[in-house]
Amino acid sequence: MEHAAPAEVVQRGLQDIVALESHITFIDGKGGRLLYEGYDIRDLAEHATFEEVAYLLWHGRLPTRAQLDELKQRLVGLRGLPEPLARLIDSLPTDSNPMDMLRTAVSGLGLFEQPEEQPGPSSVEGALRLTATLPTMIGRFQRRRTGLAPLKERPDLSHAENLLYQITGREGSEIENRALDVALILHADHELNASTFAARVTASTLSDLYSAVTSAIGTLKGPLHGGANERAVELLDEIQDVSRVDEVVSAKLARHERIMGFGHRVYKVEDPRATILRAWLHRVGESAGNLHAYEMLEKEREVVHRKKGLYSNLDLYSGSLYSLLGVPKDLFTPIFAVSRVAGWAAHVLEEYQDLRLIRPSALYVGPTELHYVPIAERGP
Ligand code: SDX
Repeated sequence: MEHAAPAEVVQRGLQDIVALESHITFIDGKGGRLLYEGYDIRDLAEHATFEEVAYLLWHGRLPTRAQLDELKQRLVGLRGLPEPLARLIDSLPTDSNPMDMLRTAVSGLGLFEQPEEQPGPSSVEGALRLTATLPTMIGRFQRRRTGLAPLKERPDLSHAENLLYQITGREGSEIENRALDVALILHADHELNASTFAARVTASTLSDLYSAVTSAIGTLKGPLHGGANERAVELLDEIQDVSRVDEVVSAKLARHERIMGFGHRVYKVEDPRATILRAWLHRVGESAGNLHAYEMLEKEREVVHRKKGLYSNLDLYSGSLYSLLGVPKDLFTPIFAVSRVAGWAAHVLEEYQDLRLIRPSALYVGPTELHYVPIAERGP
């Protein structure tokens, strides 16, 4: 039977498909603008803290001083892990991929926190709990795999300061802490990127927030999404010297290989977050007396734009900045998750408030009208 003429044209990767209405984030792909709840990311990166941005994403408005102080206190108070989860993290192979560890730990947190304790799906409680505990999960795993005892809690540290402390075991300098705080602001949300869409699909079935974030972490791990920051730094390690950038990158492009940190499904000009992170990479590099990565990336940016007309995205710079802070490469994407969990939670809450099961269709192109053949008649 001839297939019926396709009712719809398939948009692979759902490219340019508008799936739902949201008040959380606006991306102007042509103009290179990004707004969280109407506030320009450049304003927020200049003046806000990650805690303020998390509040903004969950409540749709900037917090008052009293609301921000309460949020900070709640986050600090929720950083601890339930003992069974701490033991679960300690039981994992120390060579586990940290994104697999994080996916397992978040799933475990949802399991160990009994329903009566686990906040209701529409509450911000779960968002607070997850945002507060991801740095602790990463810190515990990092200490264990390096043969060190878990760190004592530091309630005096902000969210970004505590993250750097959990990973490196030391307090960051003022410029390091602010650079990480800005990076967390920049990564907090980005509309319906793949991992956020995964979270919304999960939430749209009325599954719980912890399951939705577990889906999102598994999705963020991919090198075409959150995993690009690690690979962007691996390329710098491969190239070694700025004098080799043109030769190595051109050869890769000639082989139709992807240069991680470039291109974007939505931005057709430079990702505004990349512009901000580049400035911070220069600032932190200058203060550390190490502009090597900055100079390499400037040359890489020129070559990729000249050869492919592509612009940088935030993953080009985030890894090099984290390296300057002493963060191991395989923790770059977990840091992305530490920030994006705020956005994932905001989208899950929004989905619960205006629920619609997310279920697109596929255009069937397989055979029809086949009849069952007994196995004896199917040949050898
Ligand atoms: C993030 O969606 C989000 O918002 C994600 C994110 C967020 O905050 O959540 O912004 C975070 O994931 C940023 C992107 C990080 N990923 C990378 O840097 C990986 C490298 N980039 C690409 O793989 C690619 O650009 C994507 C996946 C990001 C977007 O790809 P598209 O929109 O599907 O574009 P495409 O694959 O159809 O490419 C179009 C053309 C192709 O050339 P031709 O084959 O037509 O000749 O551009 C080329 C591609 O080959 N191209 C690249 C390239 N990206 C696209 N060529 C070399 N290097 C690249 N990086």
